[in-house]
Amino acid sequence: MSVEEISRKIDTKKLDEIIESCGSDKSHLIAILQKVQEEYKYLPEDALIYIGSKIVGLSPATVYGVATFYAQFSLDPKGKYEIKVCDGTACHVRGSMPVMNAIKKKLNLKDGKVTTDDGLFSMETVSCLGACGLAPVMMVNDKVYPQMTSDAVSIILDTLMKEEGVK
Ligand code: FES
Repeated sequence: MSVEEISRKIDTKKLDEIIESCGSDKSHLIAILQKVQEEYKYLPEDALIYIGSKIVGLSPATVYGVATFYAQFSLDPKGKYEIKVCDGTACHVRGSMPVMNAIKKKLNLKDGKVTTDDGLFSMETVSCLGACGLAPVMMVNDKVYPQMTSDAVSIILDTLMKEEGVK
């Protein structure tokens, strides 16, 4: 894909500003990716290609490789409601798997899909949310939900879907 084609799909002016503010040297790649993720809440593939074309000494493949290496970066779009399910040791032994499965089933997230088609919900697993005494723990955006069960997940998601007019 050419830079012109990418420019039609994403705001390359914003990307240029980010690259300029961090410095266009390849040693600043991580900082650039962090800022792009702050802006979009994930790293769009087009942005990675564009960054690779703008930084001397880097190829889009290298940028992509760096972005996929670090767990802090996400290449999947996030939903309006970002669901984090803890699967750390405390949460795992107290039943995080049934919670995760209930979310996937409710949101029809199959085959590695992490975001619903309507862009409302995304789900990811994390290794600890720092609230182990409340395991199993789930977060939706900034709100912590303690001692989750699959029934509780169903009620919470039903409530959010109703608020959003999802049937
Ligand atoms: S292991 Fe789940 S909050 Fe710490």
